[in-house]
Amino acid sequence: MTFSQVGIIGAGTMGSGIATTLGQQGVSVVLVDTTQDAVDRGLAAAKKFYDRAAEKGKMSGDDAAACFGRLTGATDVAALSGCDLIVEAIFEEQSVKEELFGRLNAHLKPETVVATNTSALRVSDLAEAVDDPTRFLGLHYFNPAAINPIVEVVKGEKTDQGLYDKALDFCRQTAKKPIACKDSFGFAINRFFVPYGNEAVRLLDEGLGSTAQIDRVARECMGVAAGPFLVTNLVKPKIMFHAQRNLGPHGAFYTLANTLAEKGDSDYEFEIGEDASGDAEADKKIADRLMAATFFPVLQELDEGVASAADIDMGAGLALRFGKAPCELMDELGQDEVRRIVSPVTETYGHAMPDSLSKVGSLRS
Ligand SMILES: NC(=O)c1ccc[n+]([C@@H]2O[C@H](COP(=O)([O-])OP(=O)(O)OC[C@H]3O[C@@H](n4cnc5c(N)ncnc54)[C@H](O)[C@@H]3O)[C@@H](O)[C@H]2O)c1
Repeated sequence: MTFSQVGIIGAGTMGSGIATTLGQQGVSVVLVDTTQDAVDRGLAAAKKFYDRAAEKGKMSGDDAAACFGRLTGATDVAALSGCDLIVEAIFEEQSVKEELFGRLNAHLKPETVVATNTSALRVSDLAEAVDDPTRFLGLHYFNPAAINPIVEVVKGEKTDQGLYDKALDFCRQTAKKPIACKDSFGFAINRFFVPYGNEAVRLLDEGLGSTAQIDRVARECMGVAAGPFLVTNLVKPKIMFHAQRNLGPHGAFYTLANTLAEKGDSDYEFEIGEDASGDAEADKKIADRLMAATFFPVLQELDEGVASAADIDMGAGLALRFGKAPCELMDELGQDEVRRIVSPVTETYGHAMPDSLSKVGSLRS
């Protein structure tokens, strides 16, 4: 095992999930949070996961106990001094993370690797808060981390290549499927998944279909298990609001849909009715718009070398349950059809057509 002793800071949704999956894969974990209550909650969630797996016969009771035995808790980062890898999963605020990294420096072995699970911040910026930015990278697990196999492994501007390769190996050794990613807002997956959800809200705002109709068309044209509104409700619209806002630096196409912008950070859900019907012409319009909102950012990512077509498709399939992964679907549709679908995006928002359009047909080869 590349890293056998791992520290996780933040015992919330993600930190506890990452601890759970690592404990199951034979890694010793120290889970740190600010209060003993938070640590105990994180550990209890892991125990519940293992106990349930044992009840379902997915592992023996002894294995469940052994997995849990690999996890310990602490409220002081000093407890992490023996760790080979530290994964930070605390609140998504740059200053809070920087303050933590500053405090952590004194407790690190020179060879310790530090990773952030940030979704929205630049890995290269956070790297400046640790003493040695060459030993810093992003390990972006997906929720629920205990079972979602995808991890985006993000190379910061100064990340050492050898260490980066070790982090990819570590993910494979711990039963994850790593996606090698450049440090770019939205990384490989949220870069297209969030705009696809945003486009669904634009369609609703423009009165082009109901939530149920848009969800049905998405299931039909992208082969998704659940449509964008159902998923947005599960993730919470305010999380989509933050995620889409984070993509703003990529340009005009990435601006927020009106409803998301207006409701901002408030707690609400989209109402999804029973009636998913719609006429063929409306369905076609919706399908084209949802595909365009997915294809355009994927083609841009390919131009920018954010991730490979194979990895983007793997992430779409495994992390998001897209039945038809974007590059595979574009290859299937062919260059002329993809140009027809994507052109309204470039015309409406004033973006250049991505060069990778010329490779459609053989994106995956
Ligand atoms: N929730 C998701 O779906 C998801 C997915 C991928 C990545 N992320 C990212 O993972 C990180 C954590 O998100 P989350 O959803 O688990 O948050 P969360 O609110 O569930 O948990 C955060 C935990 O960090 C603790 N914490 C805060 N400051 C701390 C500090 N200085 N030291 C130690 N512990 C501290 C909090 O007490 C809390 O228990 C964020 O950067 C987020 O963007 C979240």
